[in-house]
Amino acid sequence: MFTRRDFLRSAGGVTLLALRPLGRGLFAAPAAAAPRLPLFTVLPYIQPGSGSVLTDNAESMVIAWQTLPGMADFTVDFGASPRYGRAAAASRVDRTAVRGGDGQTRLNWATVLDGLRLGQKHFYRVRGNGTTLAEGYFTTRQPRGQKIRFVSFGDNSYGDISDRAIAFHTYRQNPDFVMNCGDNVYESGTDDEYQRYFFPVYNADLAGERVGAPLLRSVPFYTVIANHDVQGKDARGHEIANFMLNTDALAYYTAMHLPLNGPTAPTYPTPMMGPDDRIAAFRACAGDRFPRMANYSFDYGDAHFLCLDSNRYTDPNDPALQRWIADDLSRTDAIWTFVVYHHPAYNVGREHYTVQHMRVLSPLFEARGVDFVLSGHEHNYQRARPLRFAPSGPGRSAALGEADRRVPGTFTIDRSFDGVANTRPDGVLYIVTGAGGKHLYEPEFTDNPASWIHADDGNVEYVTKMVSDRHSLSVFEIDGTHLAMTQVDETGREIDRFVVTKGRRTS
Ligand SMILES: [Fe+2]
Repeated sequence: MFTRRDFLRSAGGVTLLALRPLGRGLFAAPAAAAPRLPLFTVLPYIQPGSGSVLTDNAESMVIAWQTLPGMADFTVDFGASPRYGRAAAASRVDRTAVRGGDGQTRLNWATVLDGLRLGQKHFYRVRGNGTTLAEGYFTTRQPRGQKIRFVSFGDNSYGDISDRAIAFHTYRQNPDFVMNCGDNVYESGTDDEYQRYFFPVYNADLAGERVGAPLLRSVPFYTVIANHDVQGKDARGHEIANFMLNTDALAYYTAMHLPLNGPTAPTYPTPMMGPDDRIAAFRACAGDRFPRMANYSFDYGDAHFLCLDSNRYTDPNDPALQRWIADDLSRTDAIWTFVVYHHPAYNVGREHYTVQHMRVLSPLFEARGVDFVLSGHEHNYQRARPLRFAPSGPGRSAALGEADRRVPGTFTIDRSFDGVANTRPDGVLYIVTGAGGKHLYEPEFTDNPASWIHADDGNVEYVTKMVSDRHSLSVFEIDGTHLAMTQVDETGREIDRFVVTKGRRTS
């Protein structure tokens, strides 16, 4: 039994939703739309679009959705008032998704709303064949000098109840945006998995601990590509997107619309195998986004974010990548700099301890004033002390595809920073926030510092806080030179908090 729900609602920035659920992941437009509109498989959601640097009147937002095949003339009206004022046509590309062996063609629709002012509430209305389907609003990126709040977590969507609790508590924080740390969806990053596990949770119609939350219709969601977004294996067991097994692989590149300022031709793009026609269909749907969206950067308020592909097919020693990173970090005049990648360089868990290749970038981050590095992959929360790391050589960092990518070196730890009395860290703050929903790793490590050391790392106590017995999310609040980070668990309880302050950069 499904209740007709085409009534006014105010949750999550959508004030009207006239698409009624027919079943899980299937929605019907009102019969008044003539000709009758195709069924929706993904409700309208917003995405940050290609904007990187902050430029007033050049801001954009993407409104996207997905339908089954059918006749449709979609338009999005938008503007800074509920009277809209401008309209944009939707473009579409087809993709075949697979469920239970059956192929299903789905149309991926996207509309770019451009020429927007920074830091302003905008209204939008999605219409199909003249009938209003959804009305909502969003706020564009804040310019420099404005307070911002964002939520970060990774390793999140497999349809579990914990995914929904994290979505709900993210929503309760009222974030400007979400910065996901990868493994957006399990197990294989397919379009069908996004439709089943991702959109119903983060774009639920109602908010609840066991439901999820209406986030994606008003809150931009940035993310990075990670291992479960690729997942296939080649003959050597190395990660590769396998289009023979998964027709709809690499949905990261088709569901997301993120900044396109990364290397046009990365040295180590996401590898693919399988029938040529399936790969060609994927490329047609992804367009410019593949392979470019693997690495990108953007600004938000007083913060700069550099998002990197850390999958095991990449080599962070690559000079071209390092040049791009150095240029990007040199150019920004933001007060705060965050680097986000999935595989944590410093992590004391058992599951992925040896995947350390990203350590070779630490000296670059230290030299260019990076404040935070956010990662996931380990399904728990780990906060390191401010640290500097001098690799003693490349170690196994260039052993492409391998699980053992250990990089030995020397740690310099700031033990005096406590985030309360001393709020000025000497070193980079590495945070693992991979407790976003998927089953937890090493619950017994919680509050057990004796387990937070590795002989390989000379038993250096770089982790100062670890919570692995519950799911959690990170909340960052930035107000000029003052930053507060709070770790909130899946019941809404605060489990860690610290403050970082700094003087403004003079150059
Ligand atoms: Fe992972």
